[in-house]
Amino acid sequence: MTKPILKVLAGEKLKTPPIWFMRQAGRHLPEYLKLRAEAKDFIDFCFNPEMAAEATLQPIRRYKMDAAILFADILLIPIGLGRDVRIEKGIGPILDPIKPGDIDKLKLDGAADRLSMVYETVRRVRAGLDDQTTLIGFCGGPWTVATYMIEGKGSPTKEKAKRFGLENPEEMQSLLYTLADASADYLIGQANAGAEVLKIFESWAEGLSPHQFDAWVIGPTVRIVKRVRAAGIKQPIIGFPRGAGFNLIAFVDKSGIDALAVGTDNSLSAVREIVPANMALQGNLDPLALRIGGDVLKQAVEQVLLEAKGPHIFNLGHGVAPDVKIENVHAVINHIRTGEAKYV
Ligand code: CP3
Repeated sequence: MTKPILKVLAGEKLKTPPIWFMRQAGRHLPEYLKLRAEAKDFIDFCFNPEMAAEATLQPIRRYKMDAAILFADILLIPIGLGRDVRIEKGIGPILDPIKPGDIDKLKLDGAADRLSMVYETVRRVRAGLDDQTTLIGFCGGPWTVATYMIEGKGSPTKEKAKRFGLENPEEMQSLLYTLADASADYLIGQANAGAEVLKIFESWAEGLSPHQFDAWVIGPTVRIVKRVRAAGIKQPIIGFPRGAGFNLIAFVDKSGIDALAVGTDNSLSAVREIVPANMALQGNLDPLALRIGGDVLKQAVEQVLLEAKGPHIFNLGHGVAPDVKIENVHAVINHIRTGEAKYV
Protein backbone atom coordinates (compact mmCIF):
# COMPACT_ATOMS: atom_id res chain seq x y z
CA MET A 1 0.00 0.00 0.00
CA THR A 2 1.70 3.20 -1.12
CA LYS A 3 -1.05 5.80 -1.28
CA PRO A 4 -0.65 8.15 1.70
CA ILE A 5 -4.40 8.43 2.39
CA LEU A 6 -4.81 4.66 2.47
CA LYS A 7 -1.87 4.38 4.87
CA VAL A 8 -3.43 6.90 7.23
CA LEU A 9 -6.81 5.19 7.03
CA ALA A 10 -5.05 1.93 7.95
CA GLY A 11 -3.86 3.64 11.15
CA GLU A 12 -0.43 4.99 10.22
CA LYS A 13 0.62 8.46 11.34
CA LEU A 14 2.61 10.13 8.54
CA LYS A 15 5.16 12.88 9.13
CA THR A 16 3.39 15.03 6.55
CA PRO A 17 -0.36 14.53 6.58
CA PRO A 18 -1.98 13.89 3.19
CA ILE A 19 -4.33 16.67 2.07
CA TRP A 20 -7.61 17.09 0.25
CA PHE A 21 -10.43 19.59 0.69
CA MET A 22 -14.16 19.05 0.75
CA ARG A 23 -15.68 20.87 -2.25
CA GLN A 24 -12.20 21.14 -3.79
CA ALA A 25 -13.84 20.80 -7.21
CA GLY A 26 -16.33 23.46 -8.16
CA ARG A 27 -17.00 27.12 -8.13
CA HIS A 28 -13.75 28.59 -6.83
CA LEU A 29 -11.97 27.16 -9.91
CA PRO A 30 -12.18 29.14 -13.18
CA GLU A 31 -11.70 25.92 -15.17
CA TYR A 32 -14.80 24.45 -13.44
CA LEU A 33 -16.92 27.51 -14.21
CA LYS A 34 -15.90 27.27 -17.86
CA LEU A 35 -16.82 23.59 -18.08
CA ARG A 36 -20.04 24.11 -16.11
CA ALA A 37 -21.21 26.74 -18.62
CA GLU A 38 -21.30 24.00 -21.26
CA ALA A 39 -23.83 21.85 -19.36
CA LYS A 40 -27.61 22.33 -19.46
CA ASP A 41 -27.86 22.26 -15.66
CA PHE A 42 -26.01 20.98 -12.62
CA ILE A 43 -27.77 17.60 -12.46
CA ASP A 44 -27.02 16.98 -16.15
CA PHE A 45 -23.42 17.84 -15.41
CA CYS A 46 -23.31 15.22 -12.61
CA PHE A 47 -24.78 12.59 -14.94
CA ASN A 48 -22.29 13.31 -17.71
CA PRO A 49 -19.27 11.04 -17.02
CA GLU A 50 -16.95 13.02 -19.29
CA MET A 51 -17.71 16.34 -17.61
CA ALA A 52 -17.93 14.94 -14.06
CA ALA A 53 -14.61 13.10 -14.45
CA GLU A 54 -12.97 16.25 -15.75
CA ALA A 55 -14.34 18.30 -12.81
CA THR A 56 -13.05 15.63 -10.38
CA LEU A 57 -9.56 15.80 -11.89
CA GLN A 58 -9.28 19.61 -12.13
CA PRO A 59 -8.23 20.18 -8.49
CA ILE A 60 -5.81 17.23 -8.71
CA ARG A 61 -4.02 18.83 -11.65
CA ARG A 62 -3.99 22.27 -10.10
CA TYR A 63 -3.12 21.41 -6.49
CA LYS A 64 -1.80 17.82 -6.54
CA MET A 65 -4.21 16.92 -3.76
CA ASP A 66 -3.73 13.46 -2.21
CA ALA A 67 -7.33 12.54 -2.92
CA ALA A 68 -9.85 13.13 -5.65
CA ILE A 69 -13.46 13.38 -4.46
CA LEU A 70 -15.92 12.10 -7.01
CA PHE A 71 -17.81 14.99 -8.60
CA ALA A 72 -21.48 14.29 -7.93
CA ASP A 73 -24.02 15.37 -5.31
CA ILE A 74 -25.73 13.86 -2.27
CA LEU A 75 -29.08 14.67 -3.92
CA LEU A 76 -28.67 12.20 -6.79
CA ILE A 77 -30.11 9.47 -4.52
CA PRO A 78 -33.61 11.02 -4.41
CA ILE A 79 -33.47 11.10 -8.22
CA GLY A 80 -32.60 7.38 -8.24
CA LEU A 81 -35.66 6.86 -6.01
CA GLY A 82 -37.88 8.64 -8.53
CA ARG A 83 -38.07 12.18 -7.09
CA ASP A 84 -37.35 15.41 -8.96
CA VAL A 85 -34.35 17.50 -7.90
CA ARG A 86 -33.21 20.83 -9.33
CA ILE A 87 -30.29 23.00 -8.26
CA GLU A 88 -31.23 26.65 -8.79
CA LYS A 89 -28.55 29.27 -9.19
CA GLY A 90 -28.38 31.47 -6.09
CA ILE A 91 -30.99 29.35 -4.22
CA GLY A 92 -29.64 25.80 -4.01
CA PRO A 93 -31.54 22.52 -4.21
CA ILE A 94 -35.30 22.52 -4.91
CA LEU A 95 -37.37 19.35 -4.46
CA ASP A 96 -41.06 18.56 -4.36
CA PRO A 97 -41.54 18.09 -0.56
CA ILE A 98 -42.28 14.46 0.24
CA LYS A 99 -45.42 13.62 2.26
CA PRO A 100 -45.81 10.64 4.62
CA GLY A 101 -48.08 8.92 2.07
CA ASP A 102 -45.42 9.16 -0.68
CA ILE A 103 -42.79 7.09 1.06
CA ASP A 104 -43.92 3.64 0.02
CA LYS A 105 -44.02 4.89 -3.58
CA LEU A 106 -40.25 5.49 -3.61
CA LYS A 107 -38.62 3.25 -6.22
CA LEU A 108 -35.95 1.46 -4.19
CA ASP A 109 -35.77 -1.36 -6.68
CA GLY A 110 -33.11 -0.34 -9.21
CA ALA A 111 -32.49 3.05 -7.52
CA ALA A 112 -28.70 2.68 -7.50
CA ASP A 113 -28.67 1.25 -11.04
CA ARG A 114 -30.38 4.40 -12.26
CA LEU A 115 -27.25 6.28 -11.13
CA SER A 116 -24.88 4.03 -13.08
CA MET A 117 -23.53 7.03 -15.06
CA VAL A 118 -21.75 7.92 -11.82
CA TYR A 119 -19.96 4.55 -11.83
CA GLU A 120 -18.70 5.37 -15.32
CA THR A 121 -17.33 8.66 -13.92
CA VAL A 122 -15.55 6.66 -11.20
CA ARG A 123 -13.95 4.38 -13.80
CA ARG A 124 -12.76 7.34 -15.87
CA VAL A 125 -11.32 9.16 -12.85
CA ARG A 126 -9.45 6.07 -11.64
CA ALA A 127 -7.90 5.71 -15.08
CA GLY A 128 -6.71 9.33 -14.86
CA LEU A 129 -5.09 9.15 -11.40
CA ASP A 130 -1.47 8.30 -10.58
CA ASP A 131 -0.42 5.68 -8.02
CA GLN A 132 -0.29 8.17 -5.14
CA THR A 133 -3.73 9.74 -5.41
CA THR A 134 -6.76 8.12 -3.79
CA LEU A 135 -10.28 8.25 -5.21
CA ILE A 136 -13.02 8.91 -2.66
CA GLY A 137 -16.63 8.03 -3.47
CA PHE A 138 -19.51 9.25 -1.32
CA CYS A 139 -23.17 9.45 -0.49
CA GLY A 140 -25.20 11.72 1.75
CA GLY A 141 -26.21 10.58 5.20
CA PRO A 142 -29.88 9.49 5.08
CA TRP A 143 -30.96 12.14 7.62
CA THR A 144 -29.29 14.96 5.65
CA VAL A 145 -30.82 13.79 2.36
CA ALA A 146 -34.20 13.36 4.08
CA THR A 147 -34.10 16.97 5.33
CA TYR A 148 -33.94 18.17 1.70
CA MET A 149 -36.65 15.72 0.60
CA ILE A 150 -39.03 16.79 3.36
CA GLU A 151 -38.31 20.52 3.43
CA GLY A 152 -38.05 20.78 -0.36
CA LYS A 153 -34.97 23.00 0.00
CA GLY A 154 -32.13 23.82 2.37
CA SER A 155 -33.37 24.95 5.79
CA PRO A 156 -31.39 26.54 8.62
CA THR A 157 -33.54 24.94 11.36
CA LYS A 158 -34.72 21.68 9.72
CA GLU A 159 -37.91 22.19 11.71
CA LYS A 160 -40.18 20.66 9.09
CA ALA A 161 -38.01 17.55 8.88
CA LYS A 162 -37.88 17.20 12.67
CA ARG A 163 -41.65 17.62 12.96
CA PHE A 164 -42.12 15.01 10.25
CA GLY A 165 -39.98 12.57 12.26
CA LEU A 166 -41.68 13.33 15.58
CA GLU A 167 -45.22 13.20 14.21
CA ASN A 168 -44.70 10.26 11.83
CA PRO A 169 -41.98 8.10 13.41
CA GLU A 170 -42.77 5.01 11.34
CA GLU A 171 -42.81 6.82 8.01
CA MET A 172 -39.61 8.60 9.00
CA GLN A 173 -37.88 5.32 9.74
CA SER A 174 -39.15 3.89 6.48
CA LEU A 175 -37.83 6.94 4.56
CA LEU A 176 -34.44 6.78 6.29
CA TYR A 177 -34.07 3.02 5.77
CA THR A 178 -35.06 3.34 2.11
CA LEU A 179 -32.41 6.04 1.71
CA ALA A 180 -29.90 3.89 3.60
CA ASP A 181 -30.47 0.87 1.36
CA ALA A 182 -30.30 2.90 -1.86
CA SER A 183 -27.19 4.72 -0.58
CA ALA A 184 -25.48 1.45 0.38
CA ASP A 185 -26.12 0.01 -3.09
CA TYR A 186 -24.84 3.25 -4.60
CA LEU A 187 -21.63 3.05 -2.52
CA ILE A 188 -21.21 -0.60 -3.52
CA GLY A 189 -21.53 0.46 -7.19
CA GLN A 190 -18.90 3.16 -6.69
CA ALA A 191 -16.52 0.78 -4.88
CA ASN A 192 -16.89 -1.86 -7.58
CA ALA A 193 -16.14 0.78 -10.22
CA GLY A 194 -12.90 1.81 -8.48
CA ALA A 195 -13.60 4.12 -5.52
CA GLU A 196 -10.95 3.31 -2.90
CA VAL A 197 -12.51 5.08 0.09
CA LEU A 198 -16.18 5.81 0.82
CA LYS A 199 -17.50 8.78 2.74
CA ILE A 200 -20.92 9.45 4.23
CA PHE A 201 -21.71 13.20 4.35
CA GLU A 202 -24.12 13.72 7.23
CA SER A 203 -23.78 17.48 6.96
CA TRP A 204 -26.88 18.35 9.01
CA ALA A 205 -26.26 16.23 12.10
CA GLU A 206 -26.40 19.26 14.37
CA GLY A 207 -29.12 20.17 16.87
CA LEU A 208 -30.62 16.69 17.34
CA SER A 209 -31.48 15.28 20.76
CA PRO A 210 -29.54 12.11 21.64
CA HIS A 211 -32.68 10.06 21.01
CA GLN A 212 -33.32 11.69 17.62
CA PHE A 213 -29.66 11.31 16.71
CA ASP A 214 -29.78 7.62 17.56
CA ALA A 215 -32.93 7.00 15.50
CA TRP A 216 -32.29 9.31 12.54
CA VAL A 217 -28.49 9.29 12.19
CA ILE A 218 -26.91 6.28 13.87
CA GLY A 219 -29.53 3.66 12.93
CA PRO A 220 -29.50 4.48 9.19
CA THR A 221 -25.68 4.75 9.18
CA VAL A 222 -25.36 1.30 10.76
CA ARG A 223 -27.71 0.00 8.08
CA ILE A 224 -25.53 1.43 5.29
CA VAL A 225 -22.28 0.10 6.77
CA LYS A 226 -23.75 -3.39 7.31
CA ARG A 227 -25.15 -3.60 3.79
CA VAL A 228 -21.87 -2.41 2.23
CA ARG A 229 -19.84 -4.93 4.27
CA ALA A 230 -22.32 -7.74 3.52
CA ALA A 231 -21.58 -7.14 -0.18
CA GLY A 232 -17.89 -7.90 0.50
CA ILE A 233 -16.75 -4.28 0.10
CA LYS A 234 -13.60 -3.69 2.18
CA GLN A 235 -12.96 -0.02 1.40
CA PRO A 236 -12.59 2.16 4.51
CA ILE A 237 -15.64 4.30 5.30
CA ILE A 238 -15.26 7.86 6.62
CA GLY A 239 -18.18 9.22 8.62
CA PHE A 240 -18.87 12.98 8.74
CA PRO A 241 -21.64 13.74 11.23
CA ARG A 242 -21.09 17.49 11.06
CA GLY A 243 -22.08 19.39 14.19
CA ALA A 244 -22.94 16.23 16.16
CA GLY A 245 -21.54 17.65 19.42
CA PHE A 246 -21.63 15.11 22.25
CA ASN A 247 -23.57 12.73 20.00
CA LEU A 248 -20.22 12.10 18.33
CA ILE A 249 -19.34 9.69 21.13
CA ALA A 250 -22.31 7.42 20.37
CA PHE A 251 -21.66 7.79 16.64
CA VAL A 252 -18.07 6.55 16.94
CA ASP A 253 -19.15 3.78 19.27
CA LYS A 254 -22.04 2.37 17.28
CA SER A 255 -22.01 3.39 13.62
CA GLY A 256 -19.29 1.02 12.39
CA ILE A 257 -17.40 3.69 10.43
CA ASP A 258 -13.60 3.35 10.13
CA ALA A 259 -12.52 6.99 10.24
CA LEU A 260 -14.03 10.28 11.30
CA ALA A 261 -14.16 13.60 9.48
CA VAL A 262 -14.26 16.33 12.11
CA GLY A 263 -16.07 19.65 11.63
CA THR A 264 -14.75 23.05 12.66
CA ASP A 265 -16.80 22.98 15.88
CA ASN A 266 -14.63 20.28 17.49
CA SER A 267 -10.95 20.14 18.37
CA LEU A 268 -9.05 17.24 16.83
CA SER A 269 -7.24 16.58 20.10
CA ALA A 270 -10.51 16.39 22.06
CA VAL A 271 -12.01 14.04 19.47
CA ARG A 272 -8.85 11.92 19.62
CA GLU A 273 -9.70 11.17 23.27
CA ILE A 274 -13.00 9.51 22.35
CA VAL A 275 -12.03 7.45 19.30
CA PRO A 276 -10.31 4.06 19.29
CA ALA A 277 -6.50 4.15 19.20
CA ASN A 278 -5.21 4.68 15.65
CA MET A 279 -8.53 5.73 14.19
CA ALA A 280 -7.79 8.20 11.40
CA LEU A 281 -9.18 11.70 11.88
CA GLN A 282 -9.78 14.09 9.00
CA GLY A 283 -10.14 17.84 9.25
CA ASN A 284 -10.72 20.47 10.42
CA LEU A 285 -9.43 23.86 9.19
CA ASP A 286 -12.05 26.61 9.46
CA PRO A 287 -13.32 27.33 5.90
CA LEU A 288 -13.57 31.01 6.87
CA ALA A 289 -9.82 31.14 7.59
CA LEU A 290 -9.24 29.82 4.05
CA ARG A 291 -11.34 32.69 2.73
CA ILE A 292 -9.52 35.28 4.85
CA GLY A 293 -5.93 34.16 4.18
CA GLY A 294 -2.85 35.90 5.61
CA ASP A 295 -1.87 35.42 9.26
CA VAL A 296 -5.38 34.25 10.19
CA LEU A 297 -5.00 31.30 7.82
CA LYS A 298 -1.40 30.57 8.81
CA GLN A 299 -2.31 30.37 12.50
CA ALA A 300 -5.39 28.27 11.82
CA VAL A 301 -3.33 25.74 9.83
CA GLU A 302 -0.72 25.58 12.59
CA GLN A 303 -3.43 25.02 15.19
CA VAL A 304 -4.86 22.07 13.24
CA LEU A 305 -1.39 20.51 12.84
CA LEU A 306 -0.72 20.96 16.56
CA GLU A 307 -3.96 19.30 17.61
CA ALA A 308 -3.86 16.40 15.17
CA LYS A 309 -2.10 13.74 17.16
CA GLY A 310 -2.22 10.26 15.59
CA PRO A 311 -3.24 9.32 12.03
CA HIS A 312 -4.44 12.49 10.31
CA ILE A 313 -5.73 13.57 6.90
CA PHE A 314 -5.61 17.36 6.56
CA ASN A 315 -8.90 18.85 5.35
CA LEU A 316 -11.36 21.62 6.09
CA GLY A 317 -14.08 21.36 8.72
CA HIS A 318 -16.59 21.95 5.89
CA GLY A 319 -16.37 22.83 2.20
CA VAL A 320 -14.32 25.28 0.13
CA ALA A 321 -16.43 28.42 -0.43
CA PRO A 322 -16.87 29.80 -3.97
CA ASP A 323 -14.92 33.01 -3.12
CA VAL A 324 -11.76 31.23 -1.90
CA LYS A 325 -8.59 32.50 -3.55
CA ILE A 326 -6.51 29.91 -5.34
CA GLU A 327 -3.28 31.33 -3.79
CA ASN A 328 -4.65 30.56 -0.33
CA VAL A 329 -5.16 26.89 -1.19
CA HIS A 330 -1.62 26.74 -2.58
CA ALA A 331 -0.25 28.45 0.54
CA VAL A 332 -1.84 25.85 2.85
CA ILE A 333 -0.52 22.97 0.77
CA ASN A 334 3.01 24.43 0.62
CA HIS A 335 2.99 25.13 4.32
CA ILE A 336 2.11 21.53 5.12
CA ARG A 337 4.28 19.81 2.53
CA THR A 338 7.43 21.95 2.62
CA GLY A 339 7.09 23.76 5.94
CA GLU A 340 7.23 27.05 4.04
CA ALA A 341 4.32 29.30 4.98
CA LYS A 342 3.88 31.96 2.29
CA TYR A 343 0.51 33.52 3.02
CA VAL A 344 -0.63 36.77 1.43
O1 CP3 B 1 -15.57 18.86 -4.62
C1 CP3 B 1 -16.46 18.14 -4.10
O2 CP3 B 1 -16.64 18.13 -2.88
C2 CP3 B 1 -17.21 17.17 -4.98
C3 CP3 B 1 -18.57 17.30 -5.25
C4 CP3 B 1 -19.69 17.58 -4.26
C5 CP3 B 1 -20.74 18.49 -4.56
N1 CP3 B 1 -21.68 18.39 -3.58
C6 CP3 B 1 -20.80 19.34 -5.76
C7 CP3 B 1 -21.74 20.47 -5.83
C8 CP3 B 1 -19.99 16.99 -3.03
C9 CP3 B 1 -19.18 15.99 -2.21
C10 CP3 B 1 -21.26 17.50 -2.62
C11 CP3 B 1 -21.96 17.09 -1.37
C12 CP3 B 1 -23.12 17.85 -0.92
N2 CP3 B 1 -24.14 18.36 -1.65
C13 CP3 B 1 -23.41 18.07 0.45
C14 CP3 B 1 -22.60 17.55 1.61
C15 CP3 B 1 -21.35 18.31 1.85
C16 CP3 B 1 -21.55 19.67 2.39
O3 CP3 B 1 -21.05 20.63 1.76
O4 CP3 B 1 -22.14 19.80 3.47
C17 CP3 B 1 -24.62 18.79 0.51
C18 CP3 B 1 -25.32 19.29 1.76
C19 CP3 B 1 -25.08 18.96 -0.84
C20 CP3 B 1 -26.35 19.58 -1.28
C21 CP3 B 1 -26.13 20.69 -2.22
N3 CP3 B 1 -25.69 20.56 -3.53
C22 CP3 B 1 -26.30 22.08 -1.97
C23 CP3 B 1 -26.76 22.65 -0.64
C24 CP3 B 1 -25.99 22.75 -3.16
C25 CP3 B 1 -26.14 24.23 -3.47
C26 CP3 B 1 -25.39 25.13 -2.65
C27 CP3 B 1 -23.90 24.87 -2.69
O5 CP3 B 1 -23.29 24.74 -1.60
O6 CP3 B 1 -23.33 24.84 -3.76
C28 CP3 B 1 -25.56 21.78 -4.10
C29 CP3 B 1 -25.05 22.05 -5.47
C30 CP3 B 1 -23.62 21.69 -5.73
N4 CP3 B 1 -23.04 20.49 -5.41
C31 CP3 B 1 -22.66 22.51 -6.39
C32 CP3 B 1 -21.47 21.75 -6.46
C33 CP3 B 1 -20.17 22.13 -7.11
C34 CP3 B 1 -22.90 23.90 -6.94
C35 CP3 B 1 -23.75 23.90 -8.17
C36 CP3 B 1 -23.13 24.51 -9.41
O7 CP3 B 1 -21.92 24.43 -9.64
O8 CP3 B 1 -23.92 25.05 -10.17
